[in-house]
Amino acid sequence: MIKAADISEQTLPRHIVVVMDGNGRWANKRLLPRAAGHKAGVNATRSIVENCASHKIEALTIFAFSSENWNRPQAEVKSLMSLFVSTITAEVKKLHKKNVCVKFIGDKTRFSDKLQNSINTSELLTENNTGLQLNIAANYGGRWDIMQASRKLYCDLQKTNADIDSIDEDALDKYLSLSHLAAPDLFIRTGGEQRISNFLIWQLAYTELYFVDTLWPDFSDDDFSEALQWYAGRQRRFGKTGQQIAEQGA
Ligand code: FPP
Repeated sequence: MIKAADISEQTLPRHIVVVMDGNGRWANKRLLPRAAGHKAGVNATRSIVENCASHKIEALTIFAFSSENWNRPQAEVKSLMSLFVSTITAEVKKLHKKNVCVKFIGDKTRFSDKLQNSINTSELLTENNTGLQLNIAANYGGRWDIMQASRKLYCDLQKTNADIDSIDEDALDKYLSLSHLAAPDLFIRTGGEQRISNFLIWQLAYTELYFVDTLWPDFSDDDFSEALQWYAGRQRRFGKTGQQIAEQGA
């Protein structure tokens, strides 16, 4: 097995995004409540954050709770909310020590005051950190992101009486949740499903998509290395031909 440390810096992704799927099935297999699967998932989340930080990957964006996850049984939603508060409270100081900058993306207004407070506290504590940029998508949906960006752009255009022709892709991009970062290079989804599930639909236009059957709580350092290894073998063409890319690299 080639370790992530052996992959050359040039072929490492700068920005990784992850759909951490399979917590429920991991718990079901062990006859445990789904909440136990989410709790076990936190360990895998901690590991990938540490792996990204130690490999000097610039940004990691993880899908913790989608805008559609509110439709899950109330008991599961409740247990996820309290897991978020306890995890943020327990982890944020350690993340701060590791120079990680934490940011939440999504509509935070639907969360309890307690959760909003821990989100704000963690963002404030880590905002000047210069290491890994950790984005936690919570009550996030890609369609919501495009909608909120369009609304803000529309308001600003009205204020300045700007012409409709001033709207181009870059103009809208500036209002999206991850406008401060380069587009994701590598998308990882665990749990065997091969879909994007309304995550970062604008930003994933040219991202390399990697799907693995491993359930999220079982996603190990070796699984992460394998994903990086797979990514290192991809030729990123961005609409050009393979020959053009090969000539550029020559
Ligand atoms: C999807 O698996 C997982 C989630 C909806 C929750 C993921 C959250 C964590 C791992 C906690 C991370 C905590 C913080 C604070 C970042 P699923 O329940 O859909 O699994 P299934 O497909 O097997 O049912």
